[in-house]
Amino acid sequence: MASKLVAHLRAISSTHVSKFSAKPYHTLQLLNAITSQSQSPNLYCFRLISTTTLRSPSSGDSTQTQSQSQTKSSLKDIELAKFSAIADTWWDSEGPFKPLHAMNPTRVAFIRSTLCRHFRKDPLLPRPLEGIHVLDVGCGGGILSEPLARMGATVTGVDAVEKNINIARIHADLDSATSRIEYCCTTAEKLVEEQRKFDAVIALEVIEHVADPAEFCKSLSALTDPGAAVLISTINRSVRAYATAIVAAEYILNWLPKGTHQWSSFLTPEELVLILRRVSIDVREMAGFFYNPLTGRWSLSDDVGVNFIAFGAKIAQ
Ligand SMILES: C[S@@+](CC[C@H](N)C(=O)[O-])C[C@H]1O[C@@H](n2cnc3c(N)ncnc32)[C@H](O)[C@@H]1O
Repeated sequence: MASKLVAHLRAISSTHVSKFSAKPYHTLQLLNAITSQSQSPNLYCFRLISTTTLRSPSSGDSTQTQSQSQTKSSLKDIELAKFSAIADTWWDSEGPFKPLHAMNPTRVAFIRSTLCRHFRKDPLLPRPLEGIHVLDVGCGGGILSEPLARMGATVTGVDAVEKNINIARIHADLDSATSRIEYCCTTAEKLVEEQRKFDAVIALEVIEHVADPAEFCKSLSALTDPGAAVLISTINRSVRAYATAIVAAEYILNWLPKGTHQWSSFLTPEELVLILRRVSIDVREMAGFFYNPLTGRWSLSDDVGVNFIAFGAKIAQ
């Protein structure tokens, strides 16, 4: 294990790390900085190229990724196998998905407030998302889909792993408030082929597991019309994220199975903003998730150095 950690640390130290990634930033400062950087095509190219080159040698599945990118599939079999292996544990709040269960109230609060602001809904209503059709991409066992349905949204949850969808369906059927969720084992790109459209598309903790983040975002965008909302959460490719989300969470605290995350698959906030801008999604709000080890609770923060979430709106092309 030690030699694997040393190899990972070497990879980090020899790699470009964004000057934004390890520092706390206020949302507006962050977005302003990103906007001014996007004027520099060289810097932008370097970042996108460095993400790509990082990914291929370390992922160990370069052939698979290459052939999949020809078909423009977001699927990465090695990642899907990891989730299939632990599918039975989705609703065990002390199991491998404990961090997602613990973060859920905080991320739901962000989604509720941004969607209510965007769609001019009253957040104080018991079912404020009534009338909004939300797609939860990579829904897993339905940890997010269910609270969205309870807030009144019409929810479609999709996941590439059939076992996840089966678990999600069984769990949702236990309660009349969630039994109307439409669950389907499919991908964002297949929904695009079927010409489905949604008012809001959400992909939480998924983009770091797909074969090609830019293609994935292109599909998310194609599932919306101008005026729709898109929310994505992921982990920053920062040294601090390596130390906490991989070393601490997987190797010291055993919160997640070892190998759950590949540091090179993480995206910095500015990379995500630029990828989304290229597919006509304008990122308007961003927040970090802060973990307090003393209380064991998560809260929203301006520090996007590790876990973060972005809210964007689809603009006309
Ligand atoms: C870390 S889990 C997140 C689950 C859920 N979004 C949440 O945050 O509670 C990632 C999920 O994405 C799914 N997934 C990965 N790649 C996918 C793809 N290309 N299309 C659809 N689902 C995918 C996995 O099967 C897994 O259930």
